[in-house]
Parts: sequence; structure tokens; C-alpha cells
Amino acid sequence: MKNILVTGGAGYIGSHTTVELLESGYNVICVDNFSNSSEKVFDVINDLTGKQCTWYNVDVCNIEELNKIVAAHDVNCAVHFAGYKAVGESVEFPLMYYQNNINSTLSLCEVCLKNNVRSIIFSSSATVYGPPQYLPLDEKHSLSATNPYGNCKLFIEQILKDVNVAHPALNIALLRYFNPVGAHGSYRLGERPKGIPNNLMPYICQTALGVRQELRIFGNDYDTIDGTGVRDFIHVVDLAKGHVAAIKKMEADPGCFVYNLGTGNGTSVLELVNTFMEVNGVDVPYVIASRRVGDIAACWANPEAAKEHLGWEAQYTIEDMVRDSWEAQKALGVCT
Ligand code: UD1
Repeated sequence: MKNILVTGGAGYIGSHTTVELLESGYNVICVDNFSNSSEKVFDVINDLTGKQCTWYNVDVCNIEELNKIVAAHDVNCAVHFAGYKAVGESVEFPLMYYQNNINSTLSLCEVCLKNNVRSIIFSSSATVYGPPQYLPLDEKHSLSATNPYGNCKLFIEQILKDVNVAHPALNIALLRYFNPVGAHGSYRLGERPKGIPNNLMPYICQTALGVRQELRIFGNDYDTIDGTGVRDFIHVVDLAKGHVAAIKKMEADPGCFVYNLGTGNGTSVLELVNTFMEVNGVDVPYVIASRRVGDIAACWANPEAAKEHLGWEAQYTIEDMVRDSWEAQKALGVCT
């Protein structure tokens, strides 16, 4: 598999994965509509890798345009990141989420089948497990969702599984990410949410920078080590490498696979904030606020399946993650 289509290649995880793919010798063709990203990212990617990533300003829902691109580049594998990703927004605008996230996947599947693409890798999330019945979460855990964003992830997983049953020649890997943080070591790529961040790490960074007055820690009365929420934070470069490992796995061993991409370690919100301040020598003013509706107390991965079958294991530490997030934040600035 040489030619890889990356949808949403200008985004946070997509751009880091594109770098890893180029560095592993793949040709990468990115498709992005830049609804939440910038085409300038591709200059950085080309500069960092010394390779040429081909890209198109095209919406994945536009099946005719997508078909032209996939046919022209003789694509072997598609890595599907494109989609809306804010939980709160998905509750407010469910139709927009279903319309965009589901339709783009249907469009991609159709184009892949038409052009004999061999594999699709989907950017799924630990959100598909719903409230954990046990920890760590393995891939056999029951599935549920409580908001349209999560429903999209669940529905898309099911669509791809069904497509594989009907068309076994199209291999599928569903990669369930835990909480991606960190940035490329050049600090020229990173997470740049537009407006007020929803996720913890960008909020910490913007508070440290002085753009936000204080971080609100949502709840300190959970049944966890210090009462704050516990998550499995994973460095985005580790996550990106997981996609390369999944592509290699499917080259050797076709089928339909599901893997958790996490570290296997839980870190509390307070631990993360304290480590951020210690490692970076910067203050992050915070207050304890009430719990955020829809949050779970704790969530971390059992990453054994990915280790065994993909030969992949997360390498970066929490210290690496807070350092890289902060350095990239300072270098890239804030997106308003
Ligand atoms: C969230 C989504 C999840 C999605 C993931 C993508 C929800 C309920 N879940 O996960 O579906 O796949 O992002 O990255 O939104 N926190 C604070 N203060 C803040 C922000 C967050 O205390 O300003 C806490 C949260 O309460 C939580 C932890 O930090 O305990 C992580 O929150 P966040 O970064 O939003 O990720 P998740 O909620 O785990």
C-alpha cells in the first residue's frame, strides 16, 4: 500500500498522521475542506518531512470530486479523520453532525468500493464505550453513546463493519482514541481550536498563556484518586504512529479490526494541571467548578490488543505531553 488518502489531513490528528505516513515512505493525498483548519499546514508538513504531500480543498461529502481524486491517485488505503468533533455543538446541532459526519463516510465508502481501495481506517473514539462498566476498557466492552457526536462515531463504526461483511475485500480498522494531547516536536504543528476550547489541554495552555483567566476543573467529588476526572491522555505523535502500524497490519493480515489507542494509564485532571505547571514552570490559575453534564468519572484503555496485533505501544510520558502542548501553544499562538 503506497498511496494513502487522508481525509481531514489538515486537522490536529490528521496533520500529525500525515507526517508519520510521509516519513514511513507512503505517498499521501489529503482532502480537507478547511472548515476547522488551514491549508498552511501543508507547507509545514512538506517542510518538516522534505516530502511532497498532495492536497485538495474538497469536501468529502462531494462524491464526484472525491471519486476523481481517488481514481487519479490509485489510492490503496483511506484514513478517515474528517468530521465535526465538538460534543456540546453536536447536542445543539444534531442534524448538522449527522449530515456531515455520516454522509462523508457514506461518500468515502462508495468511492473506495468503486476504485478498489483496499482498506479504510476510521478515527473512532473511546466515547463509544459510554460510561465504563469496568476499567481498563478493552475492545469487548459494551457500546453506547449519549450525544450526537458519540452516536456518529458508533453509527460510522457499524456502517464500516456492515460494508466489510458485504465487501470483505475492503479491510477496516476502527481505532478508538483516548484523549489526544501534545504536539509535533518541531512545535510547528499542534492543536488550535477556534474560539473557547472545550477540551482540557487547550484550555490549560490558553490559561497559562493568559488568554483565559482561569481553568475551571469540572468536579472534585468523583470517586477517583483526588476527586477530579481521570483520563488516558495520549501523545498525538504516538497516536499518529498507531495509524502507520494499522496500515502495516492490514497489508499483512486483511480483515475488520478494532483497536484502542491509549497508554493504559489514567491521569487525573489535577495531576495533569500540576504536572503542566511543574514541567513548564508556569502558573495555571484554576477553580473547582461543578461537574460538567455528560462527563464520566474515569476512563482509561487496555491497549494490549494494539500491542499484540499492531506491535504498537505509546512511548511518550505525561511530562512529554505537557511540555509539547505548551511549547506548541507558545509557538503557534491562539486561533480566535
Ligand atoms: C471529550 C468528549 C469525547 C471526545 C473527546 C475528544 C465530552 C463529554 N467528551 O472527552 O466524546 O471523544 O473529548 O478529545 O465532551 N475538564 C475540566 N475543565 C475544562 C475542560 C475539561 O475540568 O475546561 C475535565 C473534564 O471534566 C474531564 C477531563 O477534563 O474530566 C477531560 O475533558 P476533555 O478534554 O473535554 O475530554 P473528555 O471529556 O474526556
